[in-house]
Amino acid sequence: MMNTFDQIKLKAAQEKIPSMQEEGLFYCEHLIQSQSLKNILEIGTGHGIWSIHMALAINDLKLKTIELNPKRAEIAKQNIIDLNLQDRITVIHQDALTVELTETYDLIFIDGPKSQNKALFIKVLPYLSKNGYILVDNLDFHGETHTEQTQSRDLKQLVRKINTFKDWILNESDLNVKALEFGDGLMLISRKYEP
Ligand SMILES: C[S@@+](CC[C@H](N)C(=O)[O-])C[C@H]1O[C@@H](n2cnc3c(N)ncnc32)[C@H](O)[C@@H]1O
Repeated sequence: MMNTFDQIKLKAAQEKIPSMQEEGLFYCEHLIQSQSLKNILEIGTGHGIWSIHMALAINDLKLKTIELNPKRAEIAKQNIIDLNLQDRITVIHQDALTVELTETYDLIFIDGPKSQNKALFIKVLPYLSKNGYILVDNLDFHGETHTEQTQSRDLKQLVRKINTFKDWILNESDLNVKALEFGDGLMLISRKYEP
């Protein structure tokens, strides 16, 4: 029999909401636990799968997650209530590019509009705690960043923006940047020096 979280994941998959693969989820869990990260911000909630997964795996986490799409934000809120996680996960229905941030976070997971990775990164960096991490997902964009074949104009443009972000971040000398070799191109970033 399927439990509530399995049903939530199935519905998200049926509605084609992209979510992180198992090995990526496992890596995030390990990072959060091994580095004692407590306060987390996610850009791009979808149906809340990533946040819910982390909150179920690690019981003293607090998460805020920002979603632009009103229907997805509502579904995520309901999913979180159904799993009784509403005291630990807060969904903010706003544009991550313009939302006002006030607190600092130990981990910031950027998984929103892929064409805006650089703008989002620049926006959230001042809100990263001293020894915190930023994770950016889908830098391979389902393998599309490694090929130019059979791509539409829109996809080519998106891929170009993702690759521009990669080149930019890899040349930022104040940051430690590690491209992880699994999933859909996860990148882990931290500051080299204290803010
Ligand atoms: C890949 S999905 C997120 C999946 C989720 N992080 C997970 O792993 O379960 C990306 C989400 O970003 C949202 N999004 C797109 N532009 C956004 C923006 N400007 N601000 C906030 N969310 C945005 C989309 O509506 C979509 O639900």
